Amino acid sequence: MKSRNDLTTSELLEVDMSKGLSLRPKKFCEFIGQETVLENVKIMVESAKIRKEALGHILFSGPPGLGKTSLSMILANEIGAGIQVVSGPAIEKKGDLAAILTNLDEKEVLFIDEIHRLPVAIEEILYAAMEDYRLDILVGQGPMAKTLKIDLCPFTLIGATTKAGQLSKPLRDRFIGQFNFNFYDKKSLEEMISLNAKKMSLDVELNAAKKIADCSRGTPRIANRILNRVRDFSVVLNEKVVTRDLLNKALKLMQLSDSGLGPMDVRILKCILYNYSGGPVGIEALSATLSEDRNSIEDVYEPFLLKEGYLLRTPRGRLISDKAKSYLSTIDHKENF
Ligand SMILES: Nc1ncnc2c1ncn2[C@@H]1O[C@H](COP(=O)(O)OP(=O)(O)O)[C@@H](O)[C@H]1O
Ligand SMILES: [Mg+2]
Repeated sequence: MKSRNDLTTSELLEVDMSKGLSLRPKKFCEFIGQETVLENVKIMVESAKIRKEALGHILFSGPPGLGKTSLSMILANEIGAGIQVVSGPAIEKKGDLAAILTNLDEKEVLFIDEIHRLPVAIEEILYAAMEDYRLDILVGQGPMAKTLKIDLCPFTLIGATTKAGQLSKPLRDRFIGQFNFNFYDKKSLEEMISLNAKKMSLDVELNAAKKIADCSRGTPRIANRILNRVRDFSVVLNEKVVTRDLLNKALKLMQLSDSGLGPMDVRILKCILYNYSGGPVGIEALSATLSEDRNSIEDVYEPFLLKEGYLLRTPRGRLISDKAKSYLSTIDHKENF
């Protein structure tokens, strides 16, 4: 199993190395948008505090970069508990998970990222752990085999997944709170961008902030990424203020369109249009033609393309829409996909 340090550094902290500053929100009041999810988890937290018990298990689902990890850390912070972070696919043996579970303190949060990728045999350990705070371990083989029962501290499991549908029903049913994250509206993104620009001591003009929001495909992580890149531009060009002009230069170099479509989105759309006459095409064929991992197409790119109506999903495969065709007609031709 990978060490925790390997798992957490880059993705979890997203620290601005130059200033030791993290853009990750730390309290409920710093978490912008996702009002329904927030309202629900706040009530769960309040109730757990009043009952003086561990917070109920929570499942967060939704596309990457929307704040699932951030909100989990905020939750641990708000209940005054620690958090252990692991990634589903990194847990390879039952013993790995057993070791993690037996080391949890009372009310501590165990955050399992990509929980849908936890192997089923390992997942089964979680059933009794979640329901009765108990670990059932089979030792020995054949007639000599017996089950060891180990009591665990009452803890909270928070699972995050981009594919809630791939979770087995017994596991999903054991989560008391199940919440789906949606893409953010432009207003929430603008608010985040202004806030984070301030944290980065970056002066961003209002209409530049608006444009960053337009290009962020509803995703805070992308907004932060653009902001970081724009900051590099302003530093190198010695421009004190991020104007719309400076932003346009940065966006052009990042190959981001006004609507937030990036090079990979364009590759996907072009591939369907030119290789498969607009579709329908199955995900396997698409991923083979593009030499891209199926999961990254499905989890990272498709949700936004579907939401914005560039892509349509039918039982026979993916189709591109008229909106996508007219977008592609405004940019260059067949090459480079
Ligand atoms: N609601 C939010 N308010 C403020 N910042 C956010 C919010 N959601 C996400 N972020 C920012 O976006 C980044 C990515 O969020 P993260 O929690 O890692 O997403 P996920 O775990 O869903 O992939 C975070 O570092 C944080 O800076
Ligand atoms: Mg995450």
